[in-house]
Amino acid sequence: MTYNQLRTILLCFAFATNVHSTFADSALERGAYLVEGIGNCGNCHAPQEPSGAEPLTPLSGGPPLPTPFFTAYAPNITPDKETGIGGWTAEQVVTALRDGRTPDNRVLRPPMPVPFYREMSDDDAHAIAVYLLSRPPVANKVPASQYKGPVPASYGPPVNHVVAPPRTDKVAYGGYLGNLGHCMLCHTPVGPDGQRDYAKRLGAGGFVMQGVFGRVVTANITPDPETGLGQWTDEQIAHALTTGERPDGRRLASPMPVAYLSRISSDDVEALVSWLRSLKPIRHQVDRQ
Ligand code: HEC
Ligand code: HEC
Repeated sequence: MTYNQLRTILLCFAFATNVHSTFADSALERGAYLVEGIGNCGNCHAPQEPSGAEPLTPLSGGPPLPTPFFTAYAPNITPDKETGIGGWTAEQVVTALRDGRTPDNRVLRPPMPVPFYREMSDDDAHAIAVYLLSRPPVANKVPASQYKGPVPASYGPPVNHVVAPPRTDKVAYGGYLGNLGHCMLCHTPVGPDGQRDYAKRLGAGGFVMQGVFGRVVTANITPDPETGLGQWTDEQIAHALTTGERPDGRRLASPMPVAYLSRISSDDVEALVSWLRSLKPIRHQVDRQ
């Protein structure tokens, strides 16, 4: 076969696949961008080292996530038929993300960030589902999770139709991204009852996390000048999010999902910073040691 014949065949092939799959491709790309970036699903669902989870690691199930209230294992969400979500449709994955309900009618338990994912747009939820189901199946069964107290019976009425805020509204779109990144699940302190007071303590930090990474305390990310990010410049916040380096040179430890946030677009980083700036400042000195 001559070079030109080969080239013609390749071009025809490229053209044919493009025509048929432009929509599927863009959902796949968007899904990959979200899951391996802001969504950082692998921070819970992938095997990991003490230094943290790495993007693009198969989501075949994560290490134990211990708290005083439960020891949870994020399950295998690769499309393996036996041990993963291989039998699920994209619609069923969307329902699991936003309604916290599985095809066999289980209600997903914490810390799966369902309350944050209820705000996920139809398009983004679908893109995430399509991407998960496109990944290679990996067989791995995680141990059963143990809960000491009551678990949610429901997250509310089924989510029907959600549209993302316009990207031109940086604070609103940044907040949307913040939900996809479940920042506030980690950065809001947990009371003695195991609950977070999102109305009064949003972003105040001080949640103690234990895991493969050791013991780490989350930071106050409200704009309080003394105890939060109030004195950091926008650039310093963006730099810390995407490189893990604080203005004082210290590196942020896992499970702050820096490896994932380093993959997001500069527009999205800018939106996240605008949103952080818009939070209510809360004075709360966190002992990070
Ligand atoms: C903070 C940890 C955490 C993060 C982040 C997280 N999950 Fe989960 N996820 C869990 C846990 C724990 C469960 C199991 C809940 C249970 O057993 O009831 C779960 C369950 C699921 C399930 C149901 C699987 C099954 O077989 O029942 C799906 C699907 C899922 N997660 C998808 C995702 C996706 C997609 C993302 C990222 C957008 C994500 N998760 C982010 C912790 C997490
Ligand atoms: C899985 C838990 C977790 C998630 C999710 C998370 N963080 Fe963090 N974050 C941490 C921890 C823990 C630290 C402190 C790490 C350390 O001190 O080494 C931290 C530190 C930070 C810091 C540095 C503040 C300082 O004073 O050092 C910023 C800024 C930050 N996070 C913002 C965010 C944003 C924005 C998101 C969402 C896109 C997010 N975090 C998601 C756990 C998390």
